[in-house]
Amino acid sequence: MALFEVRKKSQLMDVRISVLGGDGIGPEVTAESVKVLDAIAGRFGHEFTYITGIVGGCAIDAVGTALPDDTMNIVLGSDAVLFGAVGGPKWDDPLAKVRPEDGILQLRKRLGLFANLRPCKVYPQLIDSSPLRPERLVDVDFIMVRELTGGLYFGKPKRRWENSRGRRAVDTLAYSEKEIERVVRIAFELARDRKKRVHSIDKMNVMESSRLWREVATEVGVEYPDVELIHMLADTAAMQLITNPVIFDVIVAENLFGDILSDEAAVIGGSLGMLPSASVSSLPPKHGRRRRGGKPALYEPIHGSAPGIAGKSLANPMASILSGAMLLRLSLGLNAEAEAIENGVDSILSEGYRTGDIASNGERPLTTSQVGDMIAGLVMG
Ligand code: IPM
Ligand code: MG
Repeated sequence: MALFEVRKKSQLMDVRISVLGGDGIGPEVTAESVKVLDAIAGRFGHEFTYITGIVGGCAIDAVGTALPDDTMNIVLGSDAVLFGAVGGPKWDDPLAKVRPEDGILQLRKRLGLFANLRPCKVYPQLIDSSPLRPERLVDVDFIMVRELTGGLYFGKPKRRWENSRGRRAVDTLAYSEKEIERVVRIAFELARDRKKRVHSIDKMNVMESSRLWREVATEVGVEYPDVELIHMLADTAAMQLITNPVIFDVIVAENLFGDILSDEAAVIGGSLGMLPSASVSSLPPKHGRRRRGGKPALYEPIHGSAPGIAGKSLANPMASILSGAMLLRLSLGLNAEAEAIENGVDSILSEGYRTGDIASNGERPLTTSQVGDMIAGLVMG
């Protein structure tokens, strides 16, 4: 045991994590993840170095752009990125030239993070917090794979103009077969280690890009005969997610469908405040060690900056803390460490501790930092 610990320590002496809290509740929840990661480092003998950078609205205020060069340099020099949230009413003018959201969109694009993994697990302890009937939630456990660097978010032309007939605007939904293939492949790889079912979401009855999506998904599927592939229209998927979520194992969808469906998926489990995500360009190798170097992956809660509750220590940090667990598992291959965090979250929920978003009437919720303290305490054992 002692030998094992020592070896691990020397392998991971210098893990550099860039911490980009962003706006609203982003910095508050990210601080709790750092607290928990520090507890992990202490318990397992690792050394994590954190380098903070500004992004989003606060960066616009400070230097006029949502993703400053300094921040990008910090990110490129790190092994993984822990991201909070960006945006807020202060920067919401539809005519603004720069937007906080450009910060996260540019990070995803420049780091080549084309696959966003959003696991959706229903904690039995939170079944009462869900708007769905309890019997629909039994055994619900799926993962959404959202395409993240293409589609409507990035397609050109993307602009707005005015002519004699009035104002017009255009966004473009374009995909190459390569972009579809690589993200669908990630879905199949994940399914192989799960319940071996992929739902590929499209709108092929209307859109050309969706017809290509379906064609390519079918072709990739041939290479995975052990995995069942089901094509589903996006509107049907929206309905099935709330009427029959247990049918899903791995869901793969283009950028905007994935954005919308993953928020819907998040409330199934009771709260947006519980769900982590990882944005990656590959999965960890099944055998052997993950190669260090290259561009880092990014980990963020799926919730936004929640400006209404910012600065009040009311936010649920669990989605961010669980994103830290995904970071340990996917970027560093530290599975036992990731599990220690996940078990910590599970235990505090079992003991009845709640933040405001998941508390029942009459229950006095914990603050953001109390939740971080408790999970860090459990992690340290
Ligand atoms: C998300 C968010 C972002 C997105 C916003 C903040 C740009 O909603 O990560 O789901 O649309 O991708
Ligand atoms: Mg979203």
